[in-house]
Amino acid sequence: MRSLSRHSHPSADGIEYVTGDLLTDEGIEPAVAGAAIIVHCAGSSKGDDEATRNLVRAASRAGTQHLVYISVIGADRIPVVSGIDRTMFGYFGFKLAAERIVADSGLPWTTLRAAQFHDLSLTVAQQMAKLPVIPVPAGFHFQPVDSGEVADRLVELALGSPAGLVPDMGGPRVYAMGDMIRSYLRTLSKHPLMVPLWIPGQAARAIRAGANLAPERAVGHRTWEDFLAERVSSLADGRSRAA
Ligand SMILES: NC(=O)c1ccc[n+]([C@@H]2O[C@H](COP(=O)([O-])OP(=O)(O)OC[C@H]3O[C@@H](n4cnc5c(N)ncnc54)[C@H](OP(=O)(O)O)[C@@H]3O)[C@@H](O)[C@H]2O)c1
Repeated sequence: MRSLSRHSHPSADGIEYVTGDLLTDEGIEPAVAGAAIIVHCAGSSKGDDEATRNLVRAASRAGTQHLVYISVIGADRIPVVSGIDRTMFGYFGFKLAAERIVADSGLPWTTLRAAQFHDLSLTVAQQMAKLPVIPVPAGFHFQPVDSGEVADRLVELALGSPAGLVPDMGGPRVYAMGDMIRSYLRTLSKHPLMVPLWIPGQAARAIRAGANLAPERAVGHRTWEDFLAERVSSLADGRSRAA
């Protein structure tokens, strides 16, 4: 197995690390040489379209037989139109463009749209917890999913036949964003003031209408509470060891 990263890593445990950058298109040809199956998880808040275009070009030359892509639930339903849409939710537009590049690549492909990962929700909650008063986007709900479970599903898809756009993968429960942050704050015994924040724009309106959710595809098992219980206790262990 080969893994592409922008940073060098010693190869270990049967994984050969290769260095390259999908945005600058450096190191991609050797990275994909001989790869029958590519699982494309590289992503950022912007530029996933350009990165995917470069990957697809190299994969086509390499004769790749299956390209598996991870996208996000709502990529096709969250419009990125105005300046505020682009600033706050441009990610969804980049993911949709990347999906189309994969679908139009001529390569056999599979795309899975997943909900927000618990890890990302934790990062957001940690940032918000630093504020004296926490603004919570009004009407936003999330259906967080465990990234390990998504990884298992990607492996299953990669080893199967190319399937095009497969059913979405959401976590087991839908939560109001404020409730998710509150659960995190409880683990810190913090109770700051939370105030609702109205986000303008079409993308925010679509999110308030649930375009980022797939309650009918609540196939993940690990809940936000399970994740927090494990992750926050391991963070606390790390802090007490460091003290
Ligand atoms: N996080 C979520 O909630 C969520 C939800 C649905 C879908 N997704 C999608 O799932 C994928 C992984 O998300 P994540 O949150 O796990 O991301 P992440 O932790 O930020 O990891 C992104 C990975 O992409 C690689 N990468 C980024 N830009 C690259 C470039 N120009 N060239 C080569 N490699 C590059 C990074 O590798 P190096 O830093 O080692 O170079 C890193 O391993 C992304 O496509 C994301 O859009 C994420």
